[in-house]
Amino acid sequence: MISPSIRKKFNSLQTQQDVCILGIETSCDETAAAVVKNGRVMLSNVISSQIALHRKFGGVVPEVASRNHTLAINTVVDEALAAARIKPQDVHAIAVTYGAGLAGALLVGVSYAKAAAYALNIPLIKVNHIEAHVAANYIAFEDLKPPFIALAASGGHTQIIQVNGYNDYRVLGGTADDAIGEAFDKAARLLGLPYPGGPEVDRLAREGKPVINFFKNTKPAVQKDLRLSYSGLKTALVNYLNTAKMKGEPFSAADVCASFTAAAVDNLAETVLYAARQHNLTDIALAGGVASNTYLRQKMLTRAQEEGLRVFIPPPVLCTDNAAMVAARAYYSIIDNTHLAALDLNAQSRLNNGF
Ligand code: KG4
Ligand code: ZN
Repeated sequence: MISPSIRKKFNSLQTQQDVCILGIETSCDETAAAVVKNGRVMLSNVISSQIALHRKFGGVVPEVASRNHTLAINTVVDEALAAARIKPQDVHAIAVTYGAGLAGALLVGVSYAKAAAYALNIPLIKVNHIEAHVAANYIAFEDLKPPFIALAASGGHTQIIQVNGYNDYRVLGGTADDAIGEAFDKAARLLGLPYPGGPEVDRLAREGKPVINFFKNTKPAVQKDLRLSYSGLKTALVNYLNTAKMKGEPFSAADVCASFTAAAVDNLAETVLYAARQHNLTDIALAGGVASNTYLRQKMLTRAQEEGLRVFIPPPVLCTDNAAMVAARAYYSIIDNTHLAALDLNAQSRLNNGF
C-alpha cells in the first residue's frame, strides 16, 4: 500500500521546478548510485565494479555479486550524495532497478532503496533496467526526445525498441536466442580471454582484419522480420577453432575477433537502420554495454549518416551499467504518474513486458 501522503508528494513533483532523484542499480556486478536533476543533469555517478572479483571465475557468480553489493552499497550511496553535494533530506525521490537481472543482486538495491525511501519519507520509483539503459541517452543528449528507435544491446538483451514516448516502449524485434553481449563473452572465453570478454574482443578486433567468413551460406544483410540470432555464430566460432586445433593450424586471435565482431554487428546495424526506416523514424539511440563497442559505434555512425538518419550513442560509462540512467528513467515516470512503488516492492529477475 502506498500512503496518501507519499502519493501526494509524488504528484507534487510533477510541477516542481527542480527534481533531484537518487538512483540505485545492483542488477548484475556493478554497485552503483547517482544523483540526477530533472532527468537530464547528472550531478554524480558512482560505480563500484566487481569485475576483479568475478574474473577468477570467468563470469559473474550470483552469490558473490549479492554479497559484494551488500558490502558496497552504503559507501557507494554516500559517495554519490557527497559528489552531488546534496544532503539525503534534499533528495526528492529514490529510484531503483527492480528487474531484470540477478534476483539476489537486485534484492540488495531494492531493499536498500525501500529502507531509504521509508526513512526519508519520500517516493520510491521502480525502474526497468532496459528502459534505464535507453534513458542514459537523455543524460548524454539534451535534445533527444521520443519518438525514436532504440537498440538495447547488453549481456542479457538484444532488442530493437520503438520508443513512442517517455513511458511508451514497444519491442519490435530482437534476438531469438543469445544476447549479443553474451555472444561476445562466449567468444572471449573460447579464445581464453579474461572476463568480461566484450571489451577484450573489442580491443583485439581493432588490431585485426575481418578476413574470416564464419558462415558457409551468406546471411541476408538485413533481417526484415527483425529477428536476430547469435547462437549460430557462436557455433561457427567453436567449429573454426576446433578445426584449426585439429589441423594444428595457427590462427590470428585478432583476425578472429575482428571477423566475429563484424559478423555480429553488420547484420544488427543494418536491421536497426531498416527498423527506423520502416517506422519513419529518423533518430536512433544506442543503449547497453555492447553500445560501447568500437566497431558498432563506428558502423552505426557511418551508416546512419549515409542513410540521412541521426544516431545517438552515449559515452561508454553511460552504456554499461550505472545508476544515473536509473534516476533519469525515473524522472519520466513522475511526468506520467507511473511506477510509484509500495514498500513491498520485490526484485524480479525477469519482467514480462517484453524486456
Ligand atoms: O549493459 P551491461 O553493462 O550489463 C547488462 O545489462 O548486461 O552489458 C554488459 C555486456 C557484457 O556482455 C559485456 O561483455 C558487453 O556488454 N560489453 C561489450 C563491450 N563493453 C561491454 N561488448 C562488446 N564490446 C565492448 N566494448
Ligand atoms: Zn545493463
